[in-house]
Amino acid sequence: MTRRVLITGASSGIGAEVAWLLQADGARVALNGRDEAALVAVAGESAISVPGPLDEPSERDRVVDQALAALGGLDALVLSAGYAAHAPFEVMSEAALRAQLEVNLVAPLLMVQRALPALREARGCVVFLGSTLVERPAPGTLGYTVAKAGLHAATRALAGELAPVRVNAIAPGVVDTPMIRAPRHGEDTDDVATRVEALRELHPLGLGEPADVAGAVRYLLDTRWLTGTVLTLDGGLTA
Ligand SMILES: NC(=O)c1ccc[n+]([C@@H]2O[C@H](COP(=O)([O-])OP(=O)(O)OC[C@H]3O[C@@H](n4cnc5c(N)ncnc54)[C@H](OP(=O)(O)O)[C@@H]3O)[C@@H](O)[C@H]2O)c1
Repeated sequence: MTRRVLITGASSGIGAEVAWLLQADGARVALNGRDEAALVAVAGESAISVPGPLDEPSERDRVVDQALAALGGLDALVLSAGYAAHAPFEVMSEAALRAQLEVNLVAPLLMVQRALPALREARGCVVFLGSTLVERPAPGTLGYTVAKAGLHAATRALAGELAPVRVNAIAPGVVDTPMIRAPRHGEDTDDVATRVEALRELHPLGLGEPADVAGAVRYLLDTRWLTGTVLTLDGGLTA
């Protein structure tokens, strides 16, 4: 049967690559992001776009409901939307902390909850995008890292509670996407290039590419007896 998948963060980076790969496999996909033009560029002929901001509860619910209605059910939910506002802890604002928790933790959990009846009916699966920062924290990333830690914990907690719906996560090291090339607190373009090269040096296999992560997402979707696993995918960073 054709797999029906809702993918968030599909307008960029890892989510876009997941969308391409699953469409090439023959899946029917519903794609979420805020940048509608970028979603159109990712969408194949049978894809559905469900744009909208996931940090707004009513919009988030609408995105799930529209995707379920358009796909006629749901076999997999891939939650790749993510937001980083890295800054030293001492200058981290409450607004930035809350925004990172909302997009990276609250939104994915509540989207799973809303999609649960459909996922149960299909004995479907969930894939969260965590981070190696949970195991190997870096200065200035607290809001993002604690949100991802929540997803790692949720992966294990929900695997038992929601079975036979499967719940897994990928914890990538640094993957070369627009997220890592966005200037951080006080950085200029040269600083970004220097930081990215330093990050590359930390990974024995160099930086990851979105296709590396997309392949792992497909593995998690395909592997029937796998749940509650946070798959580290990091080019040897944490080895
Ligand atoms: N790149 C890495 O090194 C790395 C490492 C570990 C984990 N991750 C995780 O992997 C996932 C994908 O990251 P990426 O590197 O592919 O990042 P990216 O290229 O910056 O893409 C982020 C995606 O999230 C969407 N998004 C952000 N805020 C949103 C909001 N409020 N509402 C709806 N969509 C929102 C963006 O949509 P629009 O642009 O359309 O707004 C975009 O599609 C994220 O969860 C990230 O935390 C990335």
